[in-house]
Amino acid sequence: MLEVMINDSVVQIDYAAADTMLLNYLREDQGLVGSKEGCASGDCGACTVVMVDIDADEQLCYRQINACITPLNALHGKQIITVEQLSKHGELHPVQQAVVDQHGTQCGFCTPGVVMSLYALSKQSTPPTNPTDYLAGNLCRCTGYGPLIEAAKQVAGVEYFDPAQTNESSVKQWIKESDSQQTLHYAKPSTRQELAEAKTRMPSAKLIAGGTDVALEVTQQLKSIKQIIDISEVDELTTISETKSGWRVGASVPLYEVHQLMREHFPSTDEIFERLGSLTIRHRATMGGSLGHASPIGDIAPLLISLNAKIEVDDGAEKRLYSPEDYITGYRETVLKPEQWISAVLLPKLAPQQRHAIYKISKRFEDDISTVVLAINLTTDGDNRIKRCILSAGGIAAKSIRLRELERLMIGRPFTQLLVHKIKACVPDVINPLSDVRGSAEYRVALIQNLLQRFYLECNSINTRLVSHA
Ligand SMILES: Cc1cc2nc3c(=O)[nH]c(=O)nc-3n(C[C@H](O)[C@H](O)[C@H](O)COP(=O)(O)OP(=O)(O)OC[C@H]3O[C@@H](n4cnc5c(N)ncnc54)[C@H](O)[C@@H]3O)c2cc1C
Ligand code: FES
Ligand code: FES
Repeated sequence: MLEVMINDSVVQIDYAAADTMLLNYLREDQGLVGSKEGCASGDCGACTVVMVDIDADEQLCYRQINACITPLNALHGKQIITVEQLSKHGELHPVQQAVVDQHGTQCGFCTPGVVMSLYALSKQSTPPTNPTDYLAGNLCRCTGYGPLIEAAKQVAGVEYFDPAQTNESSVKQWIKESDSQQTLHYAKPSTRQELAEAKTRMPSAKLIAGGTDVALEVTQQLKSIKQIIDISEVDELTTISETKSGWRVGASVPLYEVHQLMREHFPSTDEIFERLGSLTIRHRATMGGSLGHASPIGDIAPLLISLNAKIEVDDGAEKRLYSPEDYITGYRETVLKPEQWISAVLLPKLAPQQRHAIYKISKRFEDDISTVVLAINLTTDGDNRIKRCILSAGGIAAKSIRLRELERLMIGRPFTQLLVHKIKACVPDVINPLSDVRGSAEYRVALIQNLLQRFYLECNSINTRLVSHA
């Protein structure tokens, strides 16, 4: 039996098909039509609701998610707060009042989603440095974002009585007491052993972590997914631990948590995480999922190649390590066998004098897929001679690649403008990108050349925002 707390009522659901999305359930079965469907692909935020769970410190945590691409079955034992709950007593909730105060609505289609993102923001005990991150997943086509940003500033970090959640302790108790859920069509293993057993028992089931990619098969391609193995709560896939040489990041750790680690230890990666989808997407999306679909325009693979990371692949009996380059074998193809899964990513610490940068070019700053990603990891000696160099790129081939020909031309040579000019001149000979809606082949070649130039200038600028980890 699937049990979800929707607003302040626990709902017991005898059966929900594996691919039933939360938005459809809210609107069609619960009559909660405040959450809207705009794109059904996680892009617009009209469907935003808040998911409440317990964090590692046993505190309730409030995260906004896209109801359109979240499977209902993934929410067993969690509370979902919808826009209806905010004003259920007939008065505007403080976050709704902030939108009114700042003149933040016109046609109103985006407004329920905006309000729920602001609600999640208002529930953070430590206010974020940039409150507008919470709005990155909400598109508004008429009001403009200025008033919404002001509304975000109005609600961030302010203590208030929350009429939408008046009994936090009983919610916490219910979440803690909810038992695990296993059905014939939706398995949610919690250990490595259970995951291996589920894979044997349900050999044709689809693996999902955050589901932000898999759900699109249902909502965009109208496919039906009969059986799912949800790996978002497998213990060893959901933890981050420090090792002798770096960090082991479980494959199912949501990207917003991975971002916190990266910001601290790999500051040059902060922007790429900030721009990976939106915070709403990162609340559910994972590194395992990004590597699982192995998209040639995904941001994670070029990043991991540049950091010399390893991908840990498991089948329940034996774990193997692959470099990301070897792991991805072709267009959306990987070494994974049907019985295997990605269990973790191993990130080595950056050595002193290593300079690292990753650049993402996309049409929109946030919530947009990359046209090109270029990552550079470069070590020079005391004479400014290049000792080691990794150049990796996404968006320029059928898979994320390492630009080894360019690396070979750089190693052993002084890192000078003259060298950069020579390398840039070689770019058209070593890459052969496609033209598509995001950019022509020529544009992509020019981007790689210009990003190499940018890296050189940033390394030599006293105002560098990157890169030295000395
Ligand atoms: C609106 C939107 C914006 C996006 N923006 C970006 C972006 O800016 N940059 C970017 O790189 N990506 C982006 N994505 C793509 C995608 O969401 C991410 O790549 C995300 O990291 C996928 O993670 P997930 O856990 O949700 O994957 P899921 O949907 O759960 O899984 C994706 C695939 O990986 C497989 N899989 C999942 N976990 C594992 C595992 N541990 N082992 C083996 N296979 C596994 C699944 O079977 C499935 O085939 C975006 C997606 C959306 C919807
Ligand atoms: S409907 Fe657009 S993000 Fe869900
Ligand atoms: S108010 Fe119309 S889309 Fe935002």
